[in-house]
Amino acid sequence: MARLAFGGDYNPEQWPESVWHEDVRLMREAGVTTVSVGIFSWALLEPAPGAYEFGWLDRVIDLLHENGIDVDLGTPTVAPPKWFYDQRPDALPVTADGARLGFGSRGAICHSNQAYRDASTRITEQLARRYGKHPAVVMWHVHNEYGVPVSACYCDGCAAHFRRWLAATYETVEAVNEVWGTAFWGQRYASLDEIDPPRTTPTVGNPAQQLDYKRFADATMRENFVRERDVLHRLAPGIPVTTNFMTALSQCDSVDYWAWGREVDVVTNDHYLITDGRRTHVNLAMAADLTRSVAGGDPWLLLEHSTSGVNWQARNPAKAPGQMARNSLGHVARGSEGAMFFQWRQSRRGAEKFHSSMVPHAGTDSRVWREVCELGSAIGQLGGIEGTRTVADVAMLWDWQSWWAQNLEWRPTEDHDARERADSFYEALYDRHLTVDFAHPEADLSAYPLVVVPALYLATEAASLNLREYVENGGTLVVSYFSGIVDEHDAVHPGAYPGAFRDVLGLTVEEWSPLLAGESVGLSGPDGSRVTGDVWTEFVVPRGAEPVWTYEDGLTAGRPAITRHAYGAGTAWYVSTRLGASDLDTVLASALADAGVGDRPELPRDVEVLTRAGATGRYVFVINHTPDEAKVPLADPGVDVLSGDRVSGRVCVPAGAVRVVRVEA
Ligand code: GLA
Ligand code: ZN
Repeated sequence: MARLAFGGDYNPEQWPESVWHEDVRLMREAGVTTVSVGIFSWALLEPAPGAYEFGWLDRVIDLLHENGIDVDLGTPTVAPPKWFYDQRPDALPVTADGARLGFGSRGAICHSNQAYRDASTRITEQLARRYGKHPAVVMWHVHNEYGVPVSACYCDGCAAHFRRWLAATYETVEAVNEVWGTAFWGQRYASLDEIDPPRTTPTVGNPAQQLDYKRFADATMRENFVRERDVLHRLAPGIPVTTNFMTALSQCDSVDYWAWGREVDVVTNDHYLITDGRRTHVNLAMAADLTRSVAGGDPWLLLEHSTSGVNWQARNPAKAPGQMARNSLGHVARGSEGAMFFQWRQSRRGAEKFHSSMVPHAGTDSRVWREVCELGSAIGQLGGIEGTRTVADVAMLWDWQSWWAQNLEWRPTEDHDARERADSFYEALYDRHLTVDFAHPEADLSAYPLVVVPALYLATEAASLNLREYVENGGTLVVSYFSGIVDEHDAVHPGAYPGAFRDVLGLTVEEWSPLLAGESVGLSGPDGSRVTGDVWTEFVVPRGAEPVWTYEDGLTAGRPAITRHAYGAGTAWYVSTRLGASDLDTVLASALADAGVGDRPELPRDVEVLTRAGATGRYVFVINHTPDEAKVPLADPGVDVLSGDRVSGRVCVPAGAVRVVRVEA
């Protein structure tokens, strides 16, 4: 993008044309640069099969262009019209229980359905031909949030498509029988043609089959994205193509964004605060870091977040004054090339009429509108940072496929939650003011002094080798329990746990022993330090590693609980129980010392300091989430980008405010 983007989803079809003129006037007042248009407009663009009505969209796009506003143009393939389903009811998805979902919401799509594929190709071709040369169109927005609300369909068409996927992946039924372990419970197949999707079964279904079905469903959605993308590339060359991700929201855990990141021209993300009582800005930081990582560290764009409350959680509080700007600029600090919202004007009708927007029901004499205008002006002043990259300190391994496998049924305890471990490790690093890159387990890790591995249940041979090499070459690794247990088919690595990581960790685990609800165990460590674990304990047998903390009670009393292994030029730590935040911090402090990563004791809790650097300079973002003024030391003097004031020594950031300093170094 040529400039930082500020704007949101614009749905003019919900309003009479007279409102459009007020819309663009207000957009200019707010400093809007970019809007996403047409995401759900198929039924209006093609009201009857093959009969197109582009006039209204022509007028909208021209009006925006006349007012200097760029368009991120949707392909409306998430919302096929009713006539389409009446012709092809088989395009409606079927649940694992065999229920066919109905029309009247959105995203009711069987991604294997050929009629859906053909119809969505045709509407995409029409849009590409008509608008591919329009100077307002700066990006294509394919579909909407693949993976929600439906991530997999279990219809007969999908069954046939799954068989083709299995044939392409494994070639023979023997290979499928082998990797799925169908010898267990008598599930052996004589031919690929016998295989169905993992529909609802009397008790636990084959885990490897379920895992493969998740891969298949993800790949099937990706086929559809790639097909539309290729149409757009062919008919409208030069315009980048994206689709909006939801990287760190557990509402959307069915998409392997590492694979998708390679297919889009620009990574874009949607993020909403999860108001479940936890610190929302930490989840936001994690989502933004993960999105940047999926983009390979390149700039990305926050395509949707909210000006205030959403309307789809159990409780939807408004944002506090200043919180929207902190959220938006928090994403920018972590690599977003701007900040966009769902949606421009709050709907009067429909399912999302209580979701906040840039122009609220309360109108322009409102706090939300005033803050929107202030933010638009701030983002305008940040021009120059485009293309700079966020500087990270450490890495965390992250793998959607491992998460899928981990979440299958009949695990040693239902209290262990891989996502909870990732959140907790992230929060501990966040509280140490470390900027985190996420990395795929097989990615090059050599740039990072420290890599943490929270509950990576599934690890391939390649990941195992990767971590050995990383530590051998001087890296510091911290691995939490229930990691490196199975291969890509959910088969236990041969020998003692944790098969993929026992060499690098210098230990084996004879047996694990999850704790009962409410139970905990004490651990004693160096200089009398004590920490507490819950949920999980293990019988760890050191094979080169030294015990650093030891279980004091429970079945594992007297055995090593947290170990350190000097391996090659590096060090690998293992944490065999679940530690709470402050105890995790104690252990991370030791690992960070091994890694030579210094403390930042001068920074208060909940004050973020991030750096974006590149050809146009070095920008330090200070985001103060606290109710007190924060004074943050600056290594080099600079200029406050938003006020133009010179700053040296330290920057003072009022309660709840954000400062961006362009430093001279
Ligand atoms: C998602 C969707 C939007 C809207 C918002 C707010 O991000 O992409 O269409 O539904 O959520 O709920
Ligand atoms: Zn289907």
